Amino acid sequence: MMNEEMAQRIDLYEALAQWLQTHLGFHWDHRDPNLASRIERLCQHIKQPSIAACTHFWRTAPPTQSIIEMVAKEFTIGESYFFRDGQFFDALRHKILPELIANAKDKHLSIWSVGCSRGEEIYSIAIVLRELLPDYDQWHIQLLGTDINPDVLATARAGVFKKWSLRQMPSLTQQRYFTENEQEYALAPFIRDSVQFQFHNLLSGLPPSNGAPSYDLILLRNVLIYLNKPSIQRAIEFLYHQLKYGGWLITTSAEFDPQYYQSTFGKLTQAHPWVKKHQGSPHTPVEKAQPNLIIEDSAPLEHTPIQNTMHKDTQAELEEEIKQFFTLAIKAQQQKDQDKAKKALRACLYLDEDFIAAHIALANLLNKEQQMQAAQRHLKHAKKLLDALDDHALLPHTNGMKAVDMRTWLNTIERSLVI
Ligand SMILES: C[S@@+](CC[C@H](N)C(=O)[O-])C[C@H]1O[C@@H](n2cnc3c(N)ncnc32)[C@H](O)[C@@H]1O
Repeated sequence: MMNEEMAQRIDLYEALAQWLQTHLGFHWDHRDPNLASRIERLCQHIKQPSIAACTHFWRTAPPTQSIIEMVAKEFTIGESYFFRDGQFFDALRHKILPELIANAKDKHLSIWSVGCSRGEEIYSIAIVLRELLPDYDQWHIQLLGTDINPDVLATARAGVFKKWSLRQMPSLTQQRYFTENEQEYALAPFIRDSVQFQFHNLLSGLPPSNGAPSYDLILLRNVLIYLNKPSIQRAIEFLYHQLKYGGWLITTSAEFDPQYYQSTFGKLTQAHPWVKKHQGSPHTPVEKAQPNLIIEDSAPLEHTPIQNTMHKDTQAELEEEIKQFFTLAIKAQQQKDQDKAKKALRACLYLDEDFIAAHIALANLLNKEQQMQAAQRHLKHAKKLLDALDDHALLPHTNGMKAVDMRTWLNTIERSLVI
């Protein structure tokens, strides 16, 4: 028979799971090995005298900023880095921003990074804009980053980063926009001060308090991984209404699923995860501002393993984690467990989407399953990253493998692609 305390703990878990799903749209992962300690810490924060009192708290707590912030510190991971996803930044520099600049009315542009973490993404855009606009000072540009985690927002406002955040940045860009001091990299004040950061819960159904009335570009990258399906749908519909006609909503390839866009943006045929709002797209009526009341069983996305790694956001821990996932993938492959290997490789790519060896290994597996398009996509990405490297460059997370060896591996797989 279940003892009294266990029954009370189950009630507590259910109450908190419900709160997270209702107010933040999070899907709940029962397999998270750190779940018990996270819940324990939250109970300490709210200073309730008993498990039953904690349960009551989570059954009735309103989604105030301070409660959301407390929860976000336990349940979010702020992994990000400058110029994350080279393919996207190419499209941004050569297509999306030039088009927005050409069509801008009175030199106004508004850009919003939703779930901005420490600000690497929106600051990267600030840098690109400076480089695209020689007459930047004559423009009225609003750059906004929002998040629910106060710790990442504090770092974003300070504009001081660890080397890890700059790992994909060309050295010339680093020299131009950062000053190094004892392994910390301070962003030039003219870039730092061009971006505003504020608390905002995407699932609140309300626009950011000091934000623009509508946006030319909204970035929603590596945030949907937290959300259950109805909340993804709701978030996309909400952001559609925050966009101007001709504006773009950007997500990542791993999160992009056209089904969520059809009710607003219309039927999508493109493979890339950036979507334009056209005049005359079908759209659902604008929702009234109200808290999210969606509750559903967890419906994990592809990246479920990451749910177990929340909070490991120091560089060394992250690096260790990537290595562990890669080792797991290799072992699973040796044991012929393709699904497990793919899962582990996707977890690697979630943590570092420019991890070349993981792209190639995943392409290899997908090729064996005759998933040609997906395999080619990963090979293409790996090839692009390899092209930027010197033959003798050592590749991260691979125990000293060189770019030249990786090219040979890539070529072998490319030749074996099932046509
Ligand atoms: C993995 S980071 C992504 C950072 C950046 N967008 C990128 O792609 O590099 C995800 C961020 O989303 C934030 N987040 C999660 N749920 C959110 C919500 N409901 N509203 C706003 N931000 C949220 C987390 O706090 C975290 O900092």
